[in-house]
Amino acid sequence: MGNIFPRWTNLLAVKILICLGALGTCVIALAWYSWTPKYTRVGYMPQQPIPFDHSLHAGQLGMDCRYCHTFVENSPHSNVPSAQVCWNCHGPGKVKSDSPKLEPLRQALDENYEKYTGDPIRWVQLHKTPDYAYFDHSVHVNRGVSCVKCHGKVNEMPVVYHHESLSMSWCLDCHRNPEQALRPMDQITNLDWEPEDLEPDEFYAYLAGKTGKSADDLKKSDEGKEWNQELIGAHLQQAWNVHPPQDCAACHR
Ligand code: HEC
Ligand code: HEC
Ligand code: HEC
Ligand code: HEC
Ligand code: HEC
Repeated sequence: MGNIFPRWTNLLAVKILICLGALGTCVIALAWYSWTPKYTRVGYMPQQPIPFDHSLHAGQLGMDCRYCHTFVENSPHSNVPSAQVCWNCHGPGKVKSDSPKLEPLRQALDENYEKYTGDPIRWVQLHKTPDYAYFDHSVHVNRGVSCVKCHGKVNEMPVVYHHESLSMSWCLDCHRNPEQALRPMDQITNLDWEPEDLEPDEFYAYLAGKTGKSADDLKKSDEGKEWNQELIGAHLQQAWNVHPPQDCAACHR
């Protein structure tokens, strides 16, 4: 009995199999590439040139985030402080100025120090959105979104780490339900703020001023509702007319 298929078809079948295999690998590689960062980045905590402790400076000492991250309200990019900011307190004769932990600071700024180099402190950057995605800090911070929503309780971190995934679905989760995030503007850098800290009468008076409605009416319409983040956030969203974009072009320009 003759073979109906010529010999090369066997080879073809093998080729198809190999191709399919390669394609499978590709698909897996692609999925790996696009999905894993969401998980692996959370917790990222690289070694820094100086073991800087947020829980001491921003927590115990109560320093405001903006003392060091000065551009966070005014620019798309939030900066890390220059060595000069540390020097204000840790310069010669001041706080712990001889601490071995502050060696890179003395090398950067103390011209009388034998190992002086003048090199800036090279902090390792933790949070970074890819170049093809657009992110602006000031827009968020000026629309009632606190640092804590995106960076966690930095004021309790001895070493700051990547707290949230910063993945696309994470951005969109909030853009779809911003009422989960909005808080009064003067509490943006107060990472310990809770809805209970807000005095209802003051809040309704504020809303009345913003919306032109009567504070009593607003209060009455909330009767029986729980005083929580959703309630406060929904009011603020309306009063400020907040509508985070969900279209691709907003973040991929
Ligand atoms: C005394 C100065 C100072 C204060 C105050 C301060 N920071 Fe920082 N922050 C730094 C320095 C220095 C770094 C870089 C070193 C590091 O990552 O620990 C940094 C890093 C960070 C990072 C990680 C940056 C990256 O590389 O992605 C975040 C997020 C951050 N700070 C948030 C905050 C928040 C929120 C507050 C307020 C609660 C705050 N910081 C207060 C000095 C400060
Ligand atoms: C407003 C003043 C102030 C500023 C600004 C400041 N610090 Fe501090 N820092 C302190 C105080 C106070 C302590 C606690 C000292 C102690 O334990 O007695 C401290 C402690 C430290 C320590 C621990 C030192 C040791 O040997 O235990 C390090 C490291 C440090 N700071 C780094 C920095 C860096 C880096 C910056 C700049 C990003 C900075 N600090 C900015 C006030 C400041
Ligand atoms: C809506 C989410 C969001 C909020 C709110 C937010 N951040 Fe960020 N932060 C990010 C993202 C995303 C990045 C990475 C940005 C990039 O690649 O430019 C980042 C990066 C940073 C960095 C690193 C900058 C660098 O170049 O190393 C610092 C510092 C920082 N944020 C501080 C703050 C502080 C302080 C606040 C509050 C005043 C704050 N952020 C509020 C999302 C947020
Ligand atoms: C916790 C809530 C929250 C998270 C998380 C968040 N956003 Fe937003 N975003 C907002 C709010 C609120 C606005 C303001 C909308 C308005 O002004 O109506 C906004 C506005 C924007 C805008 C439009 C303003 C502009 O700059 O053009 C862009 C773009 C944007 N966000 C990108 C991002 C990206 C990228 C991420 C993730 C890395 C992100 N956002 C994460 C709440 C959030
Ligand atoms: C609110 C901002 C925002 C919007 C709106 C948005 N993206 Fe993204 N997108 C991002 C961010 C941030 C990343 C980077 C995620 C990361 O680093 O893991 C991303 C990543 C991607 C990627 C790379 C694969 C991945 O998942 O990491 C693709 C593809 C993409 N976006 C397509 C789209 C399309 C298509 C739309 C419209 C339906 C869209 N994006 C809308 C913020 C946004």
